[in-house]
Amino acid sequence: MPKNKINKSRRRLIQSAGTLPLAVSAANALSGHHKTTVGKPVPSNLDEIYPRWNTDSAKWDLQTRRFPGYEIIAAMGIADMDFRTAPEITQAIANRIVHENWGYILTPRSYYESIISWNERRYGEAISRKQLLGATGVLPSIQSAIRAYCPKGSKVVLNSPGYSELYVNIKKAHCIPEESPLIKEKGSYRIDFNDLEKRLSRNDVHAFLLVNPHNPTGNCWDKSDLEEIAEICDRNDAMLFSDEIHCDFVSDESTYTPLFSIQSDAVYRRAVIFKSTTKSFNLSAFKTGYLYAYDTKVISKIRDAGHVEFANTLGLVASEVAYNDSEAWLNEVNHYINRNMIILEEYISENIPLIKFKKPQGTYLAWIDFGNWMDAIDAKTNAKKRNEKEGDYMERHLVERAGIQLGRGYKFGTGGEQYLRMNIGTSRFLLKEALERIKMAANKV
Ligand SMILES: Cc1ncc(COP(=O)(O)O)c(C=O)c1O
Repeated sequence: MPKNKINKSRRRLIQSAGTLPLAVSAANALSGHHKTTVGKPVPSNLDEIYPRWNTDSAKWDLQTRRFPGYEIIAAMGIADMDFRTAPEITQAIANRIVHENWGYILTPRSYYESIISWNERRYGEAISRKQLLGATGVLPSIQSAIRAYCPKGSKVVLNSPGYSELYVNIKKAHCIPEESPLIKEKGSYRIDFNDLEKRLSRNDVHAFLLVNPHNPTGNCWDKSDLEEIAEICDRNDAMLFSDEIHCDFVSDESTYTPLFSIQSDAVYRRAVIFKSTTKSFNLSAFKTGYLYAYDTKVISKIRDAGHVEFANTLGLVASEVAYNDSEAWLNEVNHYINRNMIILEEYISENIPLIKFKKPQGTYLAWIDFGNWMDAIDAKTNAKKRNEKEGDYMERHLVERAGIQLGRGYKFGTGGEQYLRMNIGTSRFLLKEALERIKMAANKV
């Protein structure tokens, strides 16, 4: 429709809308500029204890429901952060909600541009629009990729211990998770390439699901790791799915190497990368994400397998402004988390000999060895009596004795049985309070 006709028809609409709120002037409506601003959001102060109780928070409120009758001082299991998000994001959302219509939307080109520009600027990845697909999250994207490449009943290899929901989502895509255990040496983990090759060489395996940085161990896989993994996948005709959702959280001494930065035919042919703004900017409830691959045939195949590209309005608004305007906030959070990890490592080594912890290369998740503590409280026998796992017993023990809830390591598969995962994406005060309480509980064992 030509511009003058649009204006005419808009004017007619406005004239017929006798109840149009006075606040929206006709000139405004006709101009197409509906942008209004609301009051400034509170600046983010990472030291602030920002209460999340009674907000239906999975990290906080679910835990009181799971442990009725116990007071939980800090819930530190589920992987989101307790900070207010970046003020630019809150402002953009507030501005958008002034327009009170939530009908179907197009995903704006600027949304994809923000993704392309962010990955270029921050990590030197050159992704073209054709190589990129929007998504309703990383897990749904992984499911789409599995459905596209892995026949029902086939196996998808992943490293264990590995993020619990990956096991769940492989199964939801009608496949079977096949663990390739990481090798643990002096508190650090590495990939067992021989084991990986062995598993990928089987006929009923069509993909390896890498996590970089790895959840829960925090490994940032380096160039030679990635080259070797890609070669193994290529030799064995397997796709290489790389979940890089944690890539924006890396310690000062470490580097995140994007799989997409590896120049190799194997990566060109095999790799699919999954990312989102939701982990980095604490926007998990908005359910957005994206995937990309060098080979556009790979993108088409995933799209054709029923992948859902469309995200929700506020998720798009929040993600775009996050990538375009909130890098300073993210850098500050990263710095804060780095310091939290150092405090955690020092505190544990000086005050809680019953547990073991080594600072990870990436993520805001601390993978803590509670094996000696579990032995000291005879968690195995006690758990058996209650028909539960050692990790359940240990988790409850900490809730009861310290008021602190941590994530159970056995949920992360083989190698996680003696571990609890502590999320340190929280205020320093709460972290220190949690450590004091865990120390007091340990002293009573
Ligand atoms: C490795 C990994 N992948 C995916 C997710 C979840 O992704 P999404 O919420 O976008 O589905 C998480 C959340 O903790 C994660 O740790």
